[in-house]
Amino acid sequence: MTDLVEWLATQTDDRELAGAILSMAAAGVEIGAVLREAPIAGQTGLAGSDNVQGEAQKALDVISNDIVLNHLRKNPAISILVSEELDEAVDLSIQGRFNIATDPLDGSSNLDVNVTVGTIFSVLDAAGGLLQKGTAQLAAGYVAYGPATSLVLRVMGDTSVFTLDAGGRWVQTVVAAKVPEASGEFAINTARERFWDAATTGYVKESVAGETGPAGKRYNMRWVGSMVADIHRILMRGGIFLYPLDSETVSKGGRLRLLYEANPMAWLVEGAGGKSTTGRKGILDVEPTGIHQRVPVILGSAEEVRRVEAWYARA
Ligand code: AHG
Ligand code: MN
Ligand code: MN
Ligand code: MN
Repeated sequence: MTDLVEWLATQTDDRELAGAILSMAAAGVEIGAVLREAPIAGQTGLAGSDNVQGEAQKALDVISNDIVLNHLRKNPAISILVSEELDEAVDLSIQGRFNIATDPLDGSSNLDVNVTVGTIFSVLDAAGGLLQKGTAQLAAGYVAYGPATSLVLRVMGDTSVFTLDAGGRWVQTVVAAKVPEASGEFAINTARERFWDAATTGYVKESVAGETGPAGKRYNMRWVGSMVADIHRILMRGGIFLYPLDSETVSKGGRLRLLYEANPMAWLVEGAGGKSTTGRKGILDVEPTGIHQRVPVILGSAEEVRRVEAWYARA
């Protein structure tokens, strides 16, 4: 079976870009090992500090961030790191050619109940600075710490999946992920229904009522509350993920962060034939204004995303 190093050689001739991706993959291996023992080490609780997002940091948010920093500091090709857990961007290597934006631990509110969490990352050309549109990404990926440890990765071509074997090698287990065009599953936090806008309410209602979508398909709602877990399910079997703008998140521009959640996930989903939108425009076309900027995130099966866009066009 093909492994990550062999596959990367088929995706890019740029050995330093491959090296940047391998540094994040190595950080994922180390974070996974820490997560597996965290309940024993008593590390699933709070760190006692808040991050720039105004979230109470989990100990593992901070530990995961430190692990990413340690791996990237050792790679002279990495110029700057942007992280959910760091207020400001961190300068790493003056001659670095790549900037990395990362969510070192996504879904950390689920750590105490042992649900799949992940590490998300985006690779940008350092020459373009930090605030580049998602279309400028050179690569993006995430590690999903689940029953298996999966690395989902796209350079410029297909979105591929690797599984960590017992020897610490990333073995390719999906050559080219394909998000089915239509689906009968949607992922949204229904606890926020009272905040939803008319487009979201309309889309969800018509889906649940089974009035549209695949003939005779009963729509199921699936929501883990860990973006990596929800997106991985959608990448593997289709569906749509919605964290739309609502009356509570509108003041912040949304819930999820553009540079290290929305853009990398949109890159991966679109590489698998899916679509992504803020409701009004493609996520990858959003012009960033800040490293922790938030955006509405709707992505997954193309037909479903088009239906949501149609609701926004009517609103
Ligand atoms: P993070 O753990 O990196 O802060 O991200 C959590 C995100 C994402 O994983 C998930 O989809 C979303 O928060 C859930 O938000 P709510 O808890 O507001 O539903
Ligand atoms: Mn967080
Ligand atoms: Mn996150
Ligand atoms: Mn996080």
